[in-house]
Amino acid sequence: MEMYVEASKKIKKIASEVENSFYTTVLTGAGISAESGIPTFRGRDGLWNKYRPEELATPQAFEKDPKLVWGWYTWRMKLVFSKEPNPGHKALAEMEKMDLVKSIITQNVDDLHERAGSRNVIHLHGELKEVICSNRSCDYKVEAKTILDEIEKRLPTCPECGSLLRPGVVWFGESLPTEELSKAFQEAEKSKVILVIGTSAVVQPAASIPLITKRKGGKIIEINPDTTSLTGFADVSVRGGAGEVLTAILEILKRD
Ligand code: OAD
Repeated sequence: MEMYVEASKKIKKIASEVENSFYTTVLTGAGISAESGIPTFRGRDGLWNKYRPEELATPQAFEKDPKLVWGWYTWRMKLVFSKEPNPGHKALAEMEKMDLVKSIITQNVDDLHERAGSRNVIHLHGELKEVICSNRSCDYKVEAKTILDEIEKRLPTCPECGSLLRPGVVWFGESLPTEELSKAFQEAEKSKVILVIGTSAVVQPAASIPLITKRKGGKIIEINPDTTSLTGFADVSVRGGAGEVLTAILEILKRD
């Protein structure tokens, strides 16, 4: 009971911070899509508990065993394409329509924010819906859905340069897309409030983005069922699932 009262006080406080904030941005991680049925990476039932990232999500792994890496990605592509946005994604899209949220910086490679109706989404780690050429000097790109069946039969090659095609995501050891990263930094600098939702905040540079807002005098608000490495820096940190907490915040925002 006490915990419930505590959480509901924090939810009111968050709604009031968002309402009075001149500029609010959001940083999301795998946790926002958990309620859509997409597993997170760390923590209980996390993908990185069962699989080794260095065997599946590095340029070296792809060079060594592209079939294994493609197998992992076609599995995830099919999973993500079959899932739907949840109330958490939808509440954020609604807040953007109300002009209370300006942008979403996401570490997620799914497109559930966009499918929920969010427009200003910055993808720091690329997107599963895109397949790109593994040759960095070739800019061939194709929509994953259109060649997914092909990929399952044989390793896909670039029609322009003949190199192997690869998923359009950022792997461990690779740099983040420059334009997206600089947009994310700008958004964080401008923000008076940054909502940090569903990320364990251990992967850099994404994990440090909220600290930019804080350094500029803004506030960090965290929504997560667990504590994270950012909890100690948060001005408000509420323990709960994104769907439930964001829906409750949206209800207050709509009423006021
Ligand atoms: P993690 O799997 O590290 O963390 C997921 C977070 O979501 C945890 O803090 C959970 O407590 C929280 N969570 C779980 N269920 C939730 C719910 N219903 N509502 C809100 N939060 C919930 O995922 P990320 O922080 O996104 O990198 O991981 C960062 C990066 O590491 C990923 O982008 C990926 C991965 O390796 C690349 O693909 C490059």
